[in-house]
Amino acid sequence: MTRTHGADHEAGTNRFVYIAAAISALGGMLFGYDTGVISGAVLFIQQDFSLSPAIEEVVVGSVVLGAVLGAVAGGTLTDRFGRRIVLMLTAALFALSAVGTALAPTVTWLIIGRVIVGVAIGVASFTTPLYISEISPVDMRGRFVSFNQIALTGGIVVAYLVDYALSGIGGWRWMFGLAAIPSALLGIGMVFMPESPRWLMSRGQADKGRSVLQRIRGTDAVDEEVRDIQRSSGQQSGRWSELAGPLLRPAMIVGIGLALFQQVTGINTVIYYAPTIFQSAGFESASVAILATAGVGVINVLMTVVALLLLDRVGRRPLLLIGMAGMVISLGVLGAAFLFPRLPILRWVAAGSLMLYVGSFAVGLGPVFWLLISEIYPLKTRGLAMSIATVANWSANLLVALTFLTLVQIMGRPGTFWLYGLVGIGAWIFAYILVPETKGRSLEDIETHWRAGKHPREMGR
Ligand code: BGC
Repeated sequence: MTRTHGADHEAGTNRFVYIAAAISALGGMLFGYDTGVISGAVLFIQQDFSLSPAIEEVVVGSVVLGAVLGAVAGGTLTDRFGRRIVLMLTAALFALSAVGTALAPTVTWLIIGRVIVGVAIGVASFTTPLYISEISPVDMRGRFVSFNQIALTGGIVVAYLVDYALSGIGGWRWMFGLAAIPSALLGIGMVFMPESPRWLMSRGQADKGRSVLQRIRGTDAVDEEVRDIQRSSGQQSGRWSELAGPLLRPAMIVGIGLALFQQVTGINTVIYYAPTIFQSAGFESASVAILATAGVGVINVLMTVVALLLLDRVGRRPLLLIGMAGMVISLGVLGAAFLFPRLPILRWVAAGSLMLYVGSFAVGLGPVFWLLISEIYPLKTRGLAMSIATVANWSANLLVALTFLTLVQIMGRPGTFWLYGLVGIGAWIFAYILVPETKGRSLEDIETHWRAGKHPREMGR
């Protein structure tokens, strides 16, 4: 049976969820901004501190390393202390490290600061979707959780624009420091937001959980939802052992698999190296390459909006499968375009397929991965399970960042993009066979599904 509690709420009564989702999505925005800002900032840092290429790589890579650490630590914290408190602490960390990196007197200081930024990103990257998922009504959960991905992609574009605006004065300190503004808004905003009612109930605070639920649903009639949440709260939890056990193993495989595929199909080579790719495709002027990169960023945002509008209507699976197919096709074309570097048309084919690739990611794997991992795990270990998938995601991100340039050297651009495309075919088959359809299902219903030992694909049926 598909549960629909919450489905009868008009959009108007969800005002509170809109506000809470928008505020917590500032965590996503900081994720995007702080990962995007470095591409422009590093040019000036390199000059100011006369960095060697190796140290420059450390400056760039330190955020991703920090994110892995943050994701490792964050899961237990969100389960133990609550989603809201952790988001507030993360905001403080973001603010502190924004100011710290802006003032950095030495490279070592800067690197440590960027690792701390990374820790905050690692925690925020999954705590934001977790919090939003747990406060959303069933029928709009896909939309609300995807606020996070919109904010993330928007954050990347804002970072590009800030870099562009401040490049005239070489203002890398301001580029970093400006992140303090959304950090403060996130921290202050969360003070006024309630804790997740689901987390409260799982910690034995049933009355408080119920009153939060009444407040955010705009009605006293929350009995059905409360009953379901209490059923999940009553489940014994063996934590690690339970997650690795036979009942939850499929959910773990889905989360970790999607985490890896989201990265090893190459998205961040485009996000981080787009100007270089454009230049090697024939757009030789740096400013045109940067403009084209901004275009990629905007398509990323726009197609995420399309996903947001469709996720609760057509479902997660169709968007994921269509998006992945688009990625595979565009990677094939992109690779082929680089086979004939002398053809003048190459640059347009390359630009077109790059746009198609990013658009396809934005409609599928981008938002759907973060959404699904916020939905498919049982209440009591949700933070921990999400953090495991998030660690996988950031580790794969690091791996791709470290290997992209070497791969291009060894296999050339065609070979590298085709390799990502091939992995994409594997990702598609994986998703087709294993990814469940969570549209219209309450989080508690999804948990019951796993506990009954059913196959993931039976979920949407
Ligand atoms: C991914 C990031 C990526 C971003 C691009 C996110 O879903 O996790 O690694 O940079 O999308 O939009």
